[in-house]
Amino acid sequence: MIDTSGQNKDRQNLADFDEIWLFGYGSLIYKVDFPFIEKSVASIKGWQRKFWQGSHDHRGTPDNPGRVVTLTPVAKYIECIGMAYRITEDEFVHLDHREKNGYLRHEVTVQFENRKSKQGLIYIADEDNMAFLGKASISEIAQQILESSGPSGENREYLLELASSLRKLNANDEHIFEIEKALLKLI
Ligand code: SIN
Repeated sequence: MIDTSGQNKDRQNLADFDEIWLFGYGSLIYKVDFPFIEKSVASIKGWQRKFWQGSHDHRGTPDNPGRVVTLTPVAKYIECIGMAYRITEDEFVHLDHREKNGYLRHEVTVQFENRKSKQGLIYIADEDNMAFLGKASISEIAQQILESSGPSGENREYLLELASSLRKLNANDEHIFEIEKALLKLI
């Protein structure tokens, strides 16, 4: 299994940040298993959520990987809504371990609801990582999600929790809601 935690450790000099904001767009929206100082609904531009990343460690197994979200670059005006958390440097030991299956930490401009923005951090699993699965049809993705589960639970729970949190944030994410609809039909 891949482990990007070693790479992530040295990717940014966290001491340079006056405040550290982590932007979450997938399970980091609803599974908050780390302490934070404050949180805020936020968005980033130029990225779109897609169920294109394999999960061999959380929502699937090495033999039967599940599917989880990553981000793919899109036009600069397209917005991706998520949740931003102000955290301390110490939380990255846990977070890097949690996101070790192909995600690398990147810097990103986080836009808050009050129109202010800050440089923040984000985990992205790009198409060059070993666990990347890439494009598939909505029904193929829904089928794979239906059939997968791993140490963190059923893959369908990941999808349903994400879709429900996005609805609460008023995020209109067609890709996620279409897969949700397809999965609910299959159940
Ligand atoms: C994130 O939520 O920001 C990263 C992907 C995930 O852990 O589901």
